[in-house]
Amino acid sequence: MNDQKQSLLSILISSAVINQEIFRLDFIWKGPVPKPGQFFLIKPKRSAVFLARPISVALWQSDTVRFLIAKRGRGTEELLAMHLNEEVELTGPLGNCWEDFFPPENTQKPIALLGGGIGVAPLEGLPREFPKYDFDFYAGFRTGFKTDEERYGILGPAAFNAQNLIIATEDGSEGKKGRITNFLDPTKYAAVYACGPTAMLRAVTEKCKASGTPCYISMEKHMACGVGACLGCTVKTKNGNRRCCADGPIFPAEELIFE
Ligand SMILES: Cc1cc2nc3c(=O)[nH]c(=O)nc-3n(C[C@H](O)[C@H](O)[C@H](O)COP(=O)(O)OP(=O)(O)OC[C@H]3O[C@@H](n4cnc5c(N)ncnc54)[C@H](O)[C@@H]3O)c2cc1C
Ligand code: FES
Repeated sequence: MNDQKQSLLSILISSAVINQEIFRLDFIWKGPVPKPGQFFLIKPKRSAVFLARPISVALWQSDTVRFLIAKRGRGTEELLAMHLNEEVELTGPLGNCWEDFFPPENTQKPIALLGGGIGVAPLEGLPREFPKYDFDFYAGFRTGFKTDEERYGILGPAAFNAQNLIIATEDGSEGKKGRITNFLDPTKYAAVYACGPTAMLRAVTEKCKASGTPCYISMEKHMACGVGACLGCTVKTKNGNRRCCADGPIFPAEELIFE
């Protein structure tokens, strides 16, 4: 379990609506420095929602932390409705991180990052934070970006820092046409790190299994305590139930049982 966490009252210092579904929030953060793959529990101080929502850290620098969020239900709608300087309860950084699964630094092959939709967020910080490694960033979406603001708002620093950026859309309106997993050849990589919809995760798990490439997946579950105490975020694995918040959110794909 991660004991390098803090609960702090913070304020919103910047927000941007990126498209109809996705928005970005920047908060002051003076707690422990997060690592790529970790997440925070976020809840506005004045909230009608009982539980804080888990959101992966997309980017951080000096005293700020950035989140890329897709609007789903009441919790994320509340976050979208926050106004500048509004107070928020932030708890984090929580969970394990991609670094826990890095291959040796002198590995000859790059690492593939595979994000589907908002699943790009927890992967974005890796190329910037670990310049000694080569990363190819695979990003899959239903449809293409309408503006550059949307493109760079969603892809974040990965768009500039990854060795190669491969985009695929299901309707072919941007990048390659089809599912992003169709364009990934795991044999080219030392490891594959993935986050996104279950169908994508299932497909990448199968591909990596067939090629013997280590694959690690960031899982999304509803959470309550966020620190391993309530068993409310169970992930089914071949070794029994694990807690997404405290044992994850990143798990070796070969262990996971997808429902
Ligand atoms: C470790 C972790 C990191 C995350 N990082 C991000 C992130 O960076 N950006 C982001 O936008 N979201 C992220 N999420 C997902 C985010 O926490 C949920 O979308 C959010 O909690 C939904 O809350 P809500 O109140 O808006 O929706 P709710 O009212 O709780 O749900 C609305 C609808 O969405 C469904 N739903 C809710 N949560 C999930 C989920 N996790 N997976 C699938 N369906 C769901 C519900 O079943 C319901 O149908 C992360 C989740 C975890 C566990
Ligand atoms: S949310 Fe309580 S154990 Fe994970």
